Amino acid sequence: MCGIIGVLGKKDVVPSLIGGLKRLEYRGYDSAGIATLTEGGIDRRRAEGKLVNLEKVLDVNGLTGLAGIGHTRWATHGVPNEVNAHPHMTEQIALVHNGIIENYRELADELTGKGYKFESETDTEIAAQLISSYIDDGKAPEEAMAAALKQLHGAFSLAVIFKNHDNLMIGARRGAPLAVGWGDGEMFLGSDALALAPLTVRISYLEEDDWAVLTRDGATFYDKEGTQVERPIKQTQLSGAMIGKGNHRHFMMKEIAEQPAVMGETLNAFFNPKSRTITLPDLPFDWNELPKVTIVACGTSFYAGMIAKYWFEGIADLNVEVDIASEFRYRQMPLKKGGLALFISQSGETADTLAALKYAKANGQHIASIVNVEESSMGRESDFVFHTQAGPEIGVASTKAFTCQLVTLACIAIDAGVKRGVINHEEEARLCAALSEVPARAAEILDSDENIKALAEEIFEARDVLYIGRGTGYPIALEGALKLKEISYIHAEGYAAGELKHGPIALIDEMVPVIVVAPSDPYFEKTASNMQEVMARNARVIFLSDAEGIKQLGGRALGSIELPTVDPFVAPILYAIPVQILAYHVAVLKGTDVDQPRNLAKSVTVE
Ligand code: F6R
Repeated sequence: MCGIIGVLGKKDVVPSLIGGLKRLEYRGYDSAGIATLTEGGIDRRRAEGKLVNLEKVLDVNGLTGLAGIGHTRWATHGVPNEVNAHPHMTEQIALVHNGIIENYRELADELTGKGYKFESETDTEIAAQLISSYIDDGKAPEEAMAAALKQLHGAFSLAVIFKNHDNLMIGARRGAPLAVGWGDGEMFLGSDALALAPLTVRISYLEEDDWAVLTRDGATFYDKEGTQVERPIKQTQLSGAMIGKGNHRHFMMKEIAEQPAVMGETLNAFFNPKSRTITLPDLPFDWNELPKVTIVACGTSFYAGMIAKYWFEGIADLNVEVDIASEFRYRQMPLKKGGLALFISQSGETADTLAALKYAKANGQHIASIVNVEESSMGRESDFVFHTQAGPEIGVASTKAFTCQLVTLACIAIDAGVKRGVINHEEEARLCAALSEVPARAAEILDSDENIKALAEEIFEARDVLYIGRGTGYPIALEGALKLKEISYIHAEGYAAGELKHGPIALIDEMVPVIVVAPSDPYFEKTASNMQEVMARNARVIFLSDAEGIKQLGGRALGSIELPTVDPFVAPILYAIPVQILAYHVAVLKGTDVDQPRNLAKSVTVE
């Protein structure tokens, strides 16, 4: 959601604040702002819309300072305009905030009763006024912060600077991540290590309910009770160079193109090419004793979970339930003790998934997570973490994180199948061989870019698009539809092909393109029949299959995308790629903002 940066510097911090916000803009881009300590007190600049608007404001009306904070916003309370943009300021402090202050109404009433006035519609301003009220009462900044934190409810991270304290910045974390960066005579705060990557590689992560007092000499950490605690300094592997677009016009295309390499990296962690076996690190449970596997995630990560269900059931004979985190967390689902709850998340911070994880933990489940961001909240809360090696994913639409999640899940399913005696070594070797081919086959798919771009011309003016598939092709249909709608704003739906005639086929006419996901697998004939049914109603079909499938049916479709012939086990991993590329080209043709589509943000840290 929102991105936070703070710098206590040796020289003017504004360039570092803006640089940090550029790296955080993927978290939200409704408005942006910075505040610095100046000679006379605190000053700020804010602008509605993207960061570039703030830069324009700064060009006309510059700001400098040796200490400052910055923010890029994804609006929760209050429309995205300049008044609601952060930092929020009082006479005493400036504050930036990511998350939601849930009891802001109650606090606002209290503060209004004491004569405090608010200019914005945000919950954030209440937090600023609350801290300020304690300073007005004569408390020192640290005491004011400690007192205010006790009163704030919700999930948030905060960074605050204080008038007349030019060597002080305070950060706090509750339910939303915050990192402290260590420099040489400089100190930093950031929503994630990515924001701080070019500034420092030395990072400490605040734990839940921690707050940190920074001066240019270092940081002191406190827990919820106000007891001083140690938080280790870690070396991050992230570098500024990893966060560029390279030769690509958009992060999304760069990240699509990175898939062969990062899937290879992810696979290498588990795959032994000599023995053609999968070796997972020791897991804190026995696959044979699990009553059930519960997979929970949101959005694209949820679709990875849906595909894994087919794999776990088919290869490992395991009982699997897959749930959307925002539903699971409130459903009070009975969970038999000793089950495995598996959480899938690129960011590792998604608020609903994190809450679901805590529910499962409280209900006696073994907790494993698949995350792409090291040191994420989910990773920290899990008994076991699988780190996908996708590298930073900046495009808001998830691409390489998804396929790396799938590679990881495929390895876990194989391990479960072997340990449960459902597959023998020969079958394991076959599945492993299929997996080991994935990076090379993915690279071949990238060569179809021109064909897919031409097909994008056929659908970019459509009002509705349907995606259909069966088996693991069904979640790919859902994922294709999600990719298209989120970046091109075309209404798209994914359906299990067999479900079409139970309603959605009523939508079909010559105006509706239908994308058919149909690898040569045991479902092929059935999917082919469903394709005939929509073509009989004049639908314009784009057919995704391999050479054999296309030989049989490609001639009847409006267009085809030929994919490599692979073992059906790995087909969903590969079929994810053309639906990403298709959505990308449609969005480019429509002229939308591919990397930062409207209303969305990368890391969804509010419910
Ligand atoms: C879609 C997309 C989202 C995320 C979802 C979960 O392209 O990126 O649907 O998959 O918000 O995010 P994570 O995986 O970070 O929990």
